[in-house]
Amino acid sequence: MLIGTAVRPAQLSEAAYAATLGRDFNMVEPEDALKWEVVHPERQSFNFLPGDQIVDFASRHGMKVRGHTLVWHRQMPTWLTEGKFTSSELAEILEQHIKTVAGHYRGKIFAWDVINEAYDELQPGRLRSTIWRDQPGIGLVGSGSSYIERCFRWAHEADPQALLFYNEAGAETMNPKSDAIYAMVRDFRQRGVPIDGVGFQMHIAKLHADVASISANIHRFTALGVQVHITEMDVALPVDPNGNPRPEDLQRQADIYREIATACLSHPGCTAIQTWGFTDKYSWIGSHSKQTQGAALPFDRNYRAKPAYEALRKALEAGR
Ligand code: G3I
Repeated sequence: MLIGTAVRPAQLSEAAYAATLGRDFNMVEPEDALKWEVVHPERQSFNFLPGDQIVDFASRHGMKVRGHTLVWHRQMPTWLTEGKFTSSELAEILEQHIKTVAGHYRGKIFAWDVINEAYDELQPGRLRSTIWRDQPGIGLVGSGSSYIERCFRWAHEADPQALLFYNEAGAETMNPKSDAIYAMVRDFRQRGVPIDGVGFQMHIAKLHADVASISANIHRFTALGVQVHITEMDVALPVDPNGNPRPEDLQRQADIYREIATACLSHPGCTAIQTWGFTDKYSWIGSHSKQTQGAALPFDRNYRAKPAYEALRKALEAGR
């Protein structure tokens, strides 16, 4: 079983961070280091240093590396967003990006999120309007998910051995978004489009997870012959101004981690559980909630294991 976490290269030199990471995980994923604004800061130049630091750490510790993400509509450099490129120029830029980045990490990154969050939040089941799809898009607007298909084909050409994933938020349960993704993945599989897996992010808020629906959803995707990875799990808690959660919430949080891990472990095709960071010291939740939420990860800010850590460990020990 792959047990992963998102990591930030700047923290790898912090002893407690590196020790915890090396001890408790067998997979890492760059949290931001391989997003366009970091890895492709100018049209003609790539910056692989932050990503390479993570890959080096992983290889020294015998860990696998998941790549995140070749195509997204956020964290893009201004040369791209303000470049007023035509569709054919964008197609050329995107193909070059995918092939350069996936090519640089060929043999080092075993699985890629080829596309992240292509479906809309507000219009359930509809593809999101983005620079890649229709603003102005790479020239495949009006033909459904064919722009996504093109990205998977480019990624496969760049690294035929890498497992290629579609990654999404809010598609963990049976719902209109996951229905649309299911239809796309089934179509891709039937037509031989190189897709190997689906990533369910699993950012959980409000201390609620519909585990029966999540389990049914994992079941239907793995039945298509693709793997499922839980890619970005965290369970945000309300916190006081010092960042401290209520003790009773920590136990409910632990239950959710255990229930989700158990749901994954009960499907042979669910092959990875990854958290979005591992210490509450570094998590996107605080800054993205004006510090009203936090404490979302298995280790506290001092790298002490929380009830969530023990719950995850027990679920993993119980195994398949
Ligand atoms: O680029 C600047 C940098 O120059 C500056 O030094 C730094 C100071 O705070 O800010 C940097 O930008 C931040 C960037 O992360 C890189 O660290 C942004 O402000 C910050 O908003 C950005 O947040 C990331 C977020 O994606 C952006 O949407 C989070 O770290 C990252 O955890 C989060 O991850 C996403 C997944 O990729 C996709 N799924 C949802 C998940 C959570 O939003």
